[in-house]
Amino acid sequence: MQGFDRRRFLKTIGVSTVTVGLATATGALKSVSADEVDWFQNVNRVKDPLNKTPKEEGHAPVVQWPINIKNGEPFNMDIQIGETLHPMTAGHYIQWIEVYNGIELISRIEFSPLCPQARVTVPMVVKESATLRIMARCNLHGIWETVRKVSV
Ligand SMILES: [Fe+2]
Repeated sequence: MQGFDRRRFLKTIGVSTVTVGLATATGALKSVSADEVDWFQNVNRVKDPLNKTPKEEGHAPVVQWPINIKNGEPFNMDIQIGETLHPMTAGHYIQWIEVYNGIELISRIEFSPLCPQARVTVPMVVKESATLRIMARCNLHGIWETVRKVSV
């Protein structure tokens, strides 16, 4: 016989802390799965860079910049969402990308599903070594963040 599954039991009786109701346009409540709740309750990040999940591979921002960045000189930072580009369709797309230097917002790019690719080039400048944070929001899978240090 199968052992006691507390999570399944709580879901069955409707007391689960992972079951929530979302108000729809008509005011009705809609249940969502634990996975859906998790995507939108946290900022998602790659947990193990050597063993990425498919969701991590498809959503974590991938960032590149020149090798030699000089103090105070502009450079271009190339960003794409996902190792293989995230889809851009009416039902599933990247809504925006934000770039921060520490906690300062440097750039925000918004997309509609009509944009063909979740990819941008952002002009940057740093005056000292910095921690850059790149965030992106998928309409189905929440906010994803990549953090990189840049040295000048
Ligand atoms: Fe997605």
